[in-house]
Amino acid sequence: MERMKTGITGLDQMLDGGFLPQTANLIEGAPGTGKTTIGMQFIYNGIVESGEAGIILTFEEFPQQYYRDAAGFGWDFQQLEKLNRLRIIMSSPEVTKADLENIGGRIETLAHEIGARRILVDSLSHFERLSQDPIELRSMAFSFINSLKREGLTSVLTRESPALLGEAPSVDEDVAFLVDSYILLRYVEIDSAVHKAVLVLKLRGSNHAKDIRQFSIGSDGVVVQDKFVGREAIMSGSPRSRAEAFRQAFPGPGS
Ligand SMILES: Nc1ncnc2c1ncn2[C@@H]1O[C@H](COP(=O)(O)OP(=O)(O)OP(=O)(O)O)[C@@H](O)[C@H]1O
Ligand SMILES: [Mg+2]
Repeated sequence: MERMKTGITGLDQMLDGGFLPQTANLIEGAPGTGKTTIGMQFIYNGIVESGEAGIILTFEEFPQQYYRDAAGFGWDFQQLEKLNRLRIIMSSPEVTKADLENIGGRIETLAHEIGARRILVDSLSHFERLSQDPIELRSMAFSFINSLKREGLTSVLTRESPALLGEAPSVDEDVAFLVDSYILLRYVEIDSAVHKAVLVLKLRGSNHAKDIRQFSIGSDGVVVQDKFVGREAIMSGSPRSRAEAFRQAFPGPGS
């Protein structure tokens, strides 16, 4: 089956090769965990490795911020825009329902203009201000996500989670239901040091890694390492404390 590779070392393996085409993929995590970086990397690698043009839709930061952040990893987003391989669209954080329709129209136009196959929506959290009514909100998110799919786009949607450590989200409500895959980023505290960990909670229609893995952000972007617990246990000699830290960071539905 065709896969939309993220090109992120270790992550594609967790995703059994990558995202499925024309799916919506949610990346959720606390501030600074690396949601935007993973999203930018998905777009950048799509362009340079898979020949797939991309769009970035942002509600929070000016395009200049993305140019700067991307340049920090050696990715020249301005150049890619000049080459018509990338478009960055900025929308007001105070989007209204009407804005949302305009945004949909702009995405459609741009997708046709540059033949985009990928989109990063950074972040979905702004949608939550659109309505107080959870049912209406859900239906708006549903139609927005579906409109991206209709355009043939594979999307990465980021969402902030208030929990810094631990506290698993409830998968049975909100957008987690609407998306095809759901990836969680977490801080994990081990022996007074903070590490980052990633878990694929769901990947519709496909197998995926069920274990929690450590990742880091370096000069080339995100790199997902091997299985956290086993590897760390070997290196540290204190497997129990590490395993315990993970259980706290990712409590299962039953715990
Ligand atoms: N060039 C770089 N090299 C190494 N690490 C970097 C580099 N640029 C950013 N980082 C790291 O990436 C992290 C920020 O990642 P990112 O902006 O993707 O997080 P985020 O989850 O989107 O945060 P927010 O919720 O604030 O939007 C920072 O903690 C920073 O340490
Ligand atoms: Mg961000």
